Amino acid sequence: MPLDKKIRELQEKREKILLGGGEKAIEKQKAMGKRTARERILTLLDKGSFNEYDLFVEHTARDFDMQTKSLPSDGVVIGTGTIYDAPVAIYAQDFTVAGGSLGLMHSRKITKIMDHALKMRIPLIGINDSGGARIQEGVDSLAGYGEIFFRNTLSSGVIPQLSVILGPCAGGAVYSPALTDFVFVVENISKMFITGPEVIKTVLGEEISMEDLGGAWVHSETTGNAHFYAESEDQCFEQIKKLISFIPWSNENKARPFEPAEPLKDFNIDDIVPDDARLPYDVRDVIKAVVDSSDFFEIHKNWARNMVIGFGRIDGNTVGFVANQPIEMAGVLDVDSSDKAARFIRYCDAFNIPIITFVDLPGYLPGVDQEHAGVIRHGAKVLYAYSEATVPKITVIIRKAYGGGYIAMGSRHLRADFVFAWPGAEIAVMGPEGAANIIFRREIAAADDPDKMRKQKVEEYKAKFSNPYVAASRGYVDSVIEPSETRKLLIHAVSVSDNKSVFLPKKKHGIPPF
Ligand code: HXC
Repeated sequence: MPLDKKIRELQEKREKILLGGGEKAIEKQKAMGKRTARERILTLLDKGSFNEYDLFVEHTARDFDMQTKSLPSDGVVIGTGTIYDAPVAIYAQDFTVAGGSLGLMHSRKITKIMDHALKMRIPLIGINDSGGARIQEGVDSLAGYGEIFFRNTLSSGVIPQLSVILGPCAGGAVYSPALTDFVFVVENISKMFITGPEVIKTVLGEEISMEDLGGAWVHSETTGNAHFYAESEDQCFEQIKKLISFIPWSNENKARPFEPAEPLKDFNIDDIVPDDARLPYDVRDVIKAVVDSSDFFEIHKNWARNMVIGFGRIDGNTVGFVANQPIEMAGVLDVDSSDKAARFIRYCDAFNIPIITFVDLPGYLPGVDQEHAGVIRHGAKVLYAYSEATVPKITVIIRKAYGGGYIAMGSRHLRADFVFAWPGAEIAVMGPEGAANIIFRREIAAADDPDKMRKQKVEEYKAKFSNPYVAASRGYVDSVIEPSETRKLLIHAVSVSDNKSVFLPKKKHGIPPF
């Protein structure tokens, strides 16, 4: 056959496969507000950068008449491309082909691109849109998931792994996203659950809609399974691109530097924190007052809001922020906020990203609910994560740093490299009211006017302990600084830490309080 005929034959084969599950299935996909798998990849990646592999792969199933069915590309698209010129490996499940269900060859395609990403040390992006294990392929489907989970774990901390939930992600399938670093969800499109509403109704007799069980908002606000929430696929893709711009390609690189830029004038650091320590403020304004272009990329925005985490740039270099949020529950540490901070600290540590901590908290949240929910175990994760992290650690104590909260939030004792405190910082075992009530109990009770005496003792305690100077006199705080000096000192601290080199004792791995 002449070459031009062979080329035409190739083109025709390609065109047929690129139709996926066919026009009807594509129409159904569009009616749900969803793009097709290939459209999603082409929208997300740099124009013209995508190369698809394994287009011609077919399933090998023979039971249930499967030999009579063709499943183009076996319901998943894999390939490589770039985002803002950064190389990425990507797969996207094609719901138009057998509901994007995962059979043997489908899983082999995914593991092939996962292996490639790990070998090439480039980020992996997985777009999930699937009815789960392909029922007709039985144990081969389960094996496929196991192979994916194993590789997710192997790649953890080596290359960034992003999971994008753009359709159903049901049953055991949810555990791949759960093993990856960042999960993205989209309103009305993402559905994530172990057992669906029908099973719940049959087994437990409870009625719940798919949206209320495992919709985008549920995972963004309630479970914390999702790190990024978007209202549309387009918004979601913008979030992915932005994240890729902040993180390095692998644990062997640093994030790419950007052109340095001053914060916007709208965020005046001297005006953010109220003089009265009982009044709240939004700690994100403090972060925006110190980062380049006031561009703070928040992660887990809707979950455990008493803790703020995310990326920004200091003089062009990516840093991770961990900050108590005084406008939510006074910024206390509790079960969820501990989990949120600890995991992010480990992410930054694995990927060579310096950690900047802003401290303002009354301590760990007291109460039976928290104790019984395991605040001891979860709270310990923060101590573990900070202690273990060897990236540059810079801590700024803005206001309250009481008790266990003082120690946990990146203190010198967990090996912060720089600890700065603002002049309004209160570093003590507990808040002045509680402390005075305990240590001056007898004097207060015996006084003619107990209230007056209490106030006097609170003031006495504040004058003695609720300031940064005791900690500074011991060297636990390196410098007491004016708020307006913060950015300059952070730039300096990050730049002089560039060559930081510390080693932990040799071990296979630690046993963190998972
Ligand atoms: C084979 C499947 C499938 C599956 C969907 N399809 N899920 N085929 N195996 N798991 C097929 C359908 O038969 C249909 O084929 C096409 O995909 C589209 O599905 P619809 O049901 O028409 O779509 P929709 O109404 O949008 O509903 C989507 C859905 C539903 C909610 C995901 O299909 C569903 O409940 N599927 C089963 C989910 C599930 O229980 N999966 C197994 C989980 S257990 P046709 O030919 O009609 O177009 C699991 C174990 C993994 O995953 C364990 C790993 C550790």
